[in-house]
Amino acid sequence: MASSSDSTIMTSKVVSPASEDKAIRIERANEYPHEVWFFLACLIALVAVFRLLSFVCSKMFTRNRLSSQDSEKGASYSKAVVNIRNLPLALINLYRVVAFRFTLDFGSYSLNLAEVVLTMMYMAALFTWTFINTTNVSGGKLDVSYWSNRAGVLIASQIPLITALGTKNNIISFITGVSYENLNFLHRMAAHVVFVLVWAHAGAKIAPGLEATDLKEAWLRCGILAAASLTSLCIISLRPVRARAYEFFFYTHLVLVLLVLVGAYRHTENSSPSVFSYQAYIWPSFIIWGIDRIIRVIRLVAFNHTYFGFDSGAGKALDATTELLTPKCVRLTLKRPPHFKWSPGQVAYLITPGVSSLPFESHPFTIASYDSHMSLKEITSSAASTDSDSNTTPTISYWKELVFLINVQEGFTKRLADIAARKGSVKVYLDGPYGATHNLNTYDTNVFIAGGTGVSHTLPLLLDTIEGVRNGKSICKRVTFIWCIRDPRNITWISSVLAQALSITPDSLKVAVRIFVTGSSISNSPDVPALGYESPEATPSISSVEVDSSHTPVFEKAQKTLPVENQDDILVDNPMSLSAFVNLPSVTMRQGRPSLTNLLKEEAEETRGGSMCVAVCGSRSIASAVRKGLQFPVSGPLTVLRGGANVSLHVESFGYA
Ligand SMILES: Cc1cc2nc3c(=O)[nH]c(=O)nc-3n(C[C@H](O)[C@H](O)[C@H](O)COP(=O)(O)OP(=O)(O)OC[C@H]3O[C@@H](n4cnc5c(N)ncnc54)[C@H](O)[C@@H]3O)c2cc1C
Ligand SMILES: NC(=O)c1ccc[n+]([C@@H]2O[C@H](COP(=O)([O-])OP(=O)(O)OC[C@H]3O[C@@H](n4cnc5c(N)ncnc54)[C@H](OP(=O)(O)O)[C@@H]3O)[C@@H](O)[C@H]2O)c1
Repeated sequence: MASSSDSTIMTSKVVSPASEDKAIRIERANEYPHEVWFFLACLIALVAVFRLLSFVCSKMFTRNRLSSQDSEKGASYSKAVVNIRNLPLALINLYRVVAFRFTLDFGSYSLNLAEVVLTMMYMAALFTWTFINTTNVSGGKLDVSYWSNRAGVLIASQIPLITALGTKNNIISFITGVSYENLNFLHRMAAHVVFVLVWAHAGAKIAPGLEATDLKEAWLRCGILAAASLTSLCIISLRPVRARAYEFFFYTHLVLVLLVLVGAYRHTENSSPSVFSYQAYIWPSFIIWGIDRIIRVIRLVAFNHTYFGFDSGAGKALDATTELLTPKCVRLTLKRPPHFKWSPGQVAYLITPGVSSLPFESHPFTIASYDSHMSLKEITSSAASTDSDSNTTPTISYWKELVFLINVQEGFTKRLADIAARKGSVKVYLDGPYGATHNLNTYDTNVFIAGGTGVSHTLPLLLDTIEGVRNGKSICKRVTFIWCIRDPRNITWISSVLAQALSITPDSLKVAVRIFVTGSSISNSPDVPALGYESPEATPSISSVEVDSSHTPVFEKAQKTLPVENQDDILVDNPMSLSAFVNLPSVTMRQGRPSLTNLLKEEAEETRGGSMCVAVCGSRSIASAVRKGLQFPVSGPLTVLRGGANVSLHVESFGYA
């Protein structure tokens, strides 16, 4: 930079101020996008290092804490003395609480502080590099000719980043370990910041007035097309539109992105190639998008090749079976394609041409089953499965096949429910798996919290923990599995697999399954004794008011007496597993919402001196209740300094939908 300004000073003696301005403008317009990219690359590297450090520290300190656990037990946080050795852990917990557990809510949008800070930093970076050093050689400040074209180049430079952040297979996710759903927030945020910059760039040109002859220029018309398309994109990407008309959003997004890219490419062609080829910022987006699609197609063919005409018999065998478990839940079971591996909590896109109404339609669902390494014999060698082999078949699928629990909505899922009501089979092409993986082996306590179909995320985490402890890979000693459901019949979705899982749990692992029925259907029924409903605020924690197995008949009675619209349409799990499940000593059921704050506080106290992982999947409300429950003082630095649990939290929601 210093040498260039020297040369500027030298040339100013021989050239006019206008051409001197031009030379400086071009130089800065070329240089600043590189500086922005350097800044972004440092940020990405920092996130990667942070995640790595957090992981390594957690592992190291978990081991240390395990050895000192007994001596620390017994005293409450307030009485325990501060141990300075816990300082690094206390700082990590402080960072987690401040960055991820405090949220700012704007209508249907909820941003954690990490997201707010990232947004501010990104905005600050782009606007600073647009508007700094815009004083011209005559001393005029904020010279529009300085910043308007520079804004255009900065916009172009951000297009590859926005494209990468929006793809499922991208290098940023690979480097940072942040899942593609979480990066999708950055994709939308960056696009919105660039949108503001586009109008700053365009406004600077339009404000002095465009001549009719200007519009004859193809490059300008293409720029206007790109700007208009990006504006429309930003509008149709707003959550209310996506939530109400997802397919409209999906196809319009595809077309508009194409218009933005083609328009921007032609617009940037106008730049002098001898100075810098700005198209170099645009065409990589086609490659990034193409690579993502190629990877998806390769996966699709690799995992579904039997469907593509090589072996029709085998293809048929891969058809998914559907069952309507309750009026609002379909279970779709699919034989695991050869080589298809997944981690608990991952998602697959289902492409079902026979059910979809539009081409390329695919729907994401969390894989509710677990990719187990245990043999069938190991899984079934327990009392819970000895009654009949046929009874265990759907249960075994949760360890050996792909199972999806699908909430019936208005479109694709409704059509699927119609097929499931007839127990039909459907042809399914799998795209995936996608999403972050969790290593739960290093935690002393795992707490899984789900609302409704959110259990498709927490169930495989439970199966993973049990298997990890069985094969000696996990140090976990306690698992609490909390599930909130509106309708008691929903228990049948997973009762048999839970019963089976509990029956193979080693003695060293204490598992508590706590089910909260929040609907009022049981207590409304005259034949069913109430379970003691309390308002959410008044609800004491479960451990203080346990519902024992004497409530089993209540549940079974509820099955018969609930006002069920279409009894015949509902597939209730086999009675053996259901009764075995509700009679299990580790299962408790009660009515009303749990106080998640109290529950989490108790779990953290129990885990004193150790590490605790909390995973939650469900509505926004349940996720924010868990975030609140894990703020101060439960996970605060002072608590950790006094030997409190080191708490990690994973929140899973329908990411970008
Ligand atoms: C990462 C992820 C994991 C999910 N896991 C599960 C799960 O385990 N079980 C479950 O029941 N549901 C899950 N969903 C939601 C599920 O994908 C949608 O409910 C389903 O696609 C709705 O289809 P529909 O045509 O019946 O919806 P509609 O009735 O048309 O719309 C209902 C809602 O679903 C959203 N939606 C519709 N189509 C899609 C789509 N192709 N992709 C994303 N969202 C869409 C809409 O925006 C709307 O909010 C998950 C979604 C995501 C993003
Ligand atoms: N991978 C994923 O991202 C994924 C996968 C599956 C599902 N999900 C999400 O999970 C949610 C489940 O939907 P659904 O229709 O299947 O479930 P649902 O029928 O809406 O049930 C949700 C349950 O959670 C309870 N709940 C809500 N807020 C709570 C709180 N603060 N504290 C305690 N309990 C609370 C509800 O209680 P009340 O009756 O009192 O409200 C209800 O019992 C959806 O929002 C879906 O987006 C996400």
